[in-house]
Amino acid sequence: MDLDDRYPALSDLAHAAKRRVPRFVWEYLDSATGDEASKHANPQALDQVTLVPRVLSVQTANLTTRLIGRDWSLPFGIAPVGMSGLIWPGAEVALAQAATKANIPYSLSTVAAATPEIVGPHTDGRGWFQLYPPRDPAIRRDMLARAKDSGFNTLILTADVGTPSRRERQRRARLTNPMRLTPNIVAEAALAPAWSLATLRAGVPRLRTFDKYADDDAPGGTTGHIGYRLRTAPDLDYLKALRDEWDGALIVKGILHTEDARTVAPLADAIWVSNHGGRQFEAAPAAATQLPAIRAACPDTPLIADGGVRSGTDILRLIALGADFVMLGRAFHHGLAALGPKGIDHAIHILRKGLIADMGQLAIATPLQVRNRLK
Ligand code: FNR
Repeated sequence: MDLDDRYPALSDLAHAAKRRVPRFVWEYLDSATGDEASKHANPQALDQVTLVPRVLSVQTANLTTRLIGRDWSLPFGIAPVGMSGLIWPGAEVALAQAATKANIPYSLSTVAAATPEIVGPHTDGRGWFQLYPPRDPAIRRDMLARAKDSGFNTLILTADVGTPSRRERQRRARLTNPMRLTPNIVAEAALAPAWSLATLRAGVPRLRTFDKYADDDAPGGTTGHIGYRLRTAPDLDYLKALRDEWDGALIVKGILHTEDARTVAPLADAIWVSNHGGRQFEAAPAAATQLPAIRAACPDTPLIADGGVRSGTDILRLIALGADFVMLGRAFHHGLAALGPKGIDHAIHILRKGLIADMGQLAIATPLQVRNRLK
């Protein structure tokens, strides 16, 4: 049967993924912080956005979108997700390959299970490297050099993790980093044989980019691992230092306040409006809610947005509110966990087809024209 008939929506891939990974893996990927109000706010805010169709003037859709000096084939890309390789072994390379094939950006997290050296060669010089800001400037400079030398040309500073969040659901799932093979983890893994076999072959996932900097055996825990211990809460001086040290494009991720957007705009090539998929602060608004004010405050700054995107329609909704480009985190991992690498391609396909169908309804030729259809 055609994949489109079996999995017509991203939600179908999510359901299939949930059945194929151990419970603790699903809890890691799906969870947010607190009672998850900010995670739920994301799709809720998107559902409020209505776009008015036009008739008698259907256009041919051109999805090519320019962002930071490059033409991408689609107006969306893959957001950084820590420990992707826990969700499915080899995830980082599979995601990078799928993104490169589709000519969309792939962002490699600092806390991925694969290093920039491993992933970079699969990005064709177009990769984005996401930085959790190391406290030690020597480690920072080393990481930047490693990213650059591995072929990453764009740096994302994630600014919304200055302090760790509680992530209660992840704690309840008893997942630690490094992963400890406790009886409950082993029992859950036994119920997911495809995941377990693939993980046995690939090795237990860990934060490999940090191998070089690990200097002790301090206990890990869900938010106490080396990735947290080495990082700092970045301030404006930190951002300026990064700007000086990194000669590629620089994106600042995790902006929700208009004043922060104004402060960052002169130093960044793009601002990424995001509530981190609801994982940092339960009372945070959705990117969708904040975008119009940030767009007005920074009319000339490229804006990237994410959070709760389930379809091509949601991508158009965020663009209508002021985004130039849209990213998704969990959805591509659902595709991979459900169907292997072809599931990532299928998620991209679902979004592409959805965009084309909606642009037909809206009678627009480019995604940006959706701003004229906002009700
Ligand atoms: C994330 N996100 C994230 N962001 C980041 O800058 N660095 C990181 O390492 C991670 N890690 C991470 C792990 C997991 C499991 C999730 C779900 C998310 C946030 C991510 O980049 C993005 O902002 C959200 O995932 C977007 O929301 P959706 O598309 O997942 O709803």
